[in-house]
Amino acid sequence: MTDPIVIERLSKEYGQYVALNDLSLRIEKGVCVGYLGPNGAGKTTTIKILTNLLRATSGRAYLNGEDVINHPKSALDHVGAVVETPEFYPQLTPRECLSYIGTIRGMKSSAVAERTHAVLEQVKLLEVVDNRTRTFSKGMKQRLAIAQALLHEPAVLILDEPTSGLDPRGMVEVRDMIKELKKTDITILMSSHLLNEVQEVCDKVAIIDRGTLLTYDSVQHLSATKGTTVVINTLNPITAAEFRAVKALRGVRALKRIETLTLVAQLDGGTKEQFTVLRGILATGVKVTSFIPRRGAIEDVYLSLIPEGEF
Ligand SMILES: Nc1ncnc2c1ncn2[C@@H]1O[C@H](COP(=O)(O)OP(=O)(O)O)[C@@H](O)[C@H]1O
Ligand SMILES: [Mg+2]
Repeated sequence: MTDPIVIERLSKEYGQYVALNDLSLRIEKGVCVGYLGPNGAGKTTTIKILTNLLRATSGRAYLNGEDVINHPKSALDHVGAVVETPEFYPQLTPRECLSYIGTIRGMKSSAVAERTHAVLEQVKLLEVVDNRTRTFSKGMKQRLAIAQALLHEPAVLILDEPTSGLDPRGMVEVRDMIKELKKTDITILMSSHLLNEVQEVCDKVAIIDRGTLLTYDSVQHLSATKGTTVVINTLNPITAAEFRAVKALRGVRALKRIETLTLVAQLDGGTKEQFTVLRGILATGVKVTSFIPRRGAIEDVYLSLIPEGEF
């Protein structure tokens, strides 16, 4: 079976400037991939080429086995995308916006009505189905844009920085919604410049800088190999015996006391392992007041791959 998103040796030049440099990426069905990189890395350029908003200088891209460059219409038939910041006619309601999109997509009105209910439920806008978008927050507009992208039940969803410009609540709502979507068999490619977001939401991460793909790996694998640094604060100074007990816990690679009430631990793995270690520490009797991962695994990988001053 063909992978739903295949990018082969894609390059894009703007005059002399190389925005994408011989980039290849293959995304398997049902996976949620975070496309991560600093500003100007080439994320939007890639996404615009995939969605036929931009022509590549060279290379190929396939969506659900169809060539985007030569057969954009059939390639994009089963794809939903949100690329630019969504804007809606302020006097229209979500029901009206979706009906409009449904008509453009050639859907039957009965199908549009049915899907309108389903997608607005998915993006948690069912309650405001007949409210004018004029009253909507940025986060609600972003979710409505995602609802539009989902209306025709696409196999692939492509989102360019879906939480960018949203307030913290808006970000959480969009992330939660993407996490819910992941329970279906849809394939998701979302760009982001936020490490924690990708680590929290995505199954895999593709890191890009200066138009070049630096790594493509599962978040879990990166976490398992890189480990996590945790800063632990305690209520009382840790005793020598407690220190030894914590250091001996399974999953603790290294332990250092940096201040009277502060320890830094290097742990194996990701959040699951952090939980096990925290439980172990509490079992030793150490009174933990806070337990804060200083860096995620992806952050370590990212910092090791991308030169200083770029982030
Ligand atoms: N239309 C354009 N003309 C010239 N340069 C562009 C154009 N669009 C983007 N670029 C440049 O290409 C690089 C990649 O941009 P972009 O794909 O938007 O990055 P990202 O989305 O990762 O922030 C940037 O350096 C940007 O300035
Ligand atoms: Mg961009």
